[in-house]
Amino acid sequence: MLQSKIAGIGYYVPKNVYTNNDLTRFMDTSDEWIQERTGIKERRYADRIGETTTTMGVEAAKIAIERAHITNEEVDFIIFATLSPDYYFPGCAVLLQREMGMKEVGALDIRNQCSGFIYALSIADQFVKTGMYKNVLVVGSEKHSFALDFSTRGRAVSVIFGDGAGAVVVQPTAEDGKGILSTHLHSDGADAEKLAMYYPGASSGIWLDKIPDWPDQELGGLLMTKEMLEDGTAFPNMDGQAVFKKAVVKFPEVIHEALAKNNLKTSDISLLIPHQANLRISQFIQKTLGLREDQVFNNIQKYGNTTAASIPIALCEAWEEGKIKEGDLVCLAAFGAGFTWGSALIRW
Ligand code: UT7
Repeated sequence: MLQSKIAGIGYYVPKNVYTNNDLTRFMDTSDEWIQERTGIKERRYADRIGETTTTMGVEAAKIAIERAHITNEEVDFIIFATLSPDYYFPGCAVLLQREMGMKEVGALDIRNQCSGFIYALSIADQFVKTGMYKNVLVVGSEKHSFALDFSTRGRAVSVIFGDGAGAVVVQPTAEDGKGILSTHLHSDGADAEKLAMYYPGASSGIWLDKIPDWPDQELGGLLMTKEMLEDGTAFPNMDGQAVFKKAVVKFPEVIHEALAKNNLKTSDISLLIPHQANLRISQFIQKTLGLREDQVFNNIQKYGNTTAASIPIALCEAWEEGKIKEGDLVCLAAFGAGFTWGSALIRW
């Protein structure tokens, strides 16, 4: 069986910087609270019009494709991970394909939130390993800013998230022991509603008590109603403490699983790139695994939590800063809504 590697990597973040102090214009919060609880200093928001999850993904993909020394036409499969797609359907992968003038290759959207990139990378790895595809483009991109509650009511969620995109090209490699060593995927739907955005959704019926006139109101009224906006259920909903508690258990667990599979130890990790959910979560993982500070890469301070984009953005920044060298053991790990979680070990 072939082995796969990351042959090119790129990222894009929008130009609009919003500091914690900027957010105090919309809600009752403070730089002190946000930094102390999350480590975040600022985040980027896409232009309200013209800049979308797809267009940001395209910018990141262009760089990854160029660095992989291939052309758009040589991409033979596209995987796009996002929870903030341009349309409810179709997905962003086909929109990116159209935008980049790619031929009629398969295009797949992944809906696995914070672990979307790990799931996408794992799928790319399987396709390349079996010889089915040679150049798989994997994109993680999010435009969270379009659907956050910027009032004080939504502050516990909205201060965390930011916009951006990252992309990689996955190719086969003949170098033994190099590339993606293994990927590990998990989920547990028991707590699906602990971090969720319910609408638009076919299960709207379960919220019927909030919509007294149904089914007498106009057709399509269940898609999004005034009541959903007024009571805040239209926005992402999160039990932050429940997510935090589960994350600090599952991150170390899935990292140990990857190491054990490859007969490696935590001390063998050159660089751990955790999904950028909260600096306190990253620091907790670092301590639990007994890693030095320089073995863990964090950039949540600048970008906030960009969900499916956070790992490829961080991976690319770390690589550009010279923190990943040939032969290094890089560990990627994520945990998020679903709950879903996963890890990947890469010999660079
Ligand atoms: O990507 C994966 C998905 N997400 C995560 O991994 C998030 C995991 N969870 C977290 O990161 C943390 O739970 C949060 C950062 C979201 C929240 O931190 P916390 O320490 O769990 O705070 P809390 O929600 O328990 O709120 C504590 C207090 C509350 O006030 P009272 O009730 O104690 O008076 C909140 O109303 O802080 C208040 N609060 C805020 N105050 C200022 C909540 N959000 C804010 C805010 N600014 N933005």
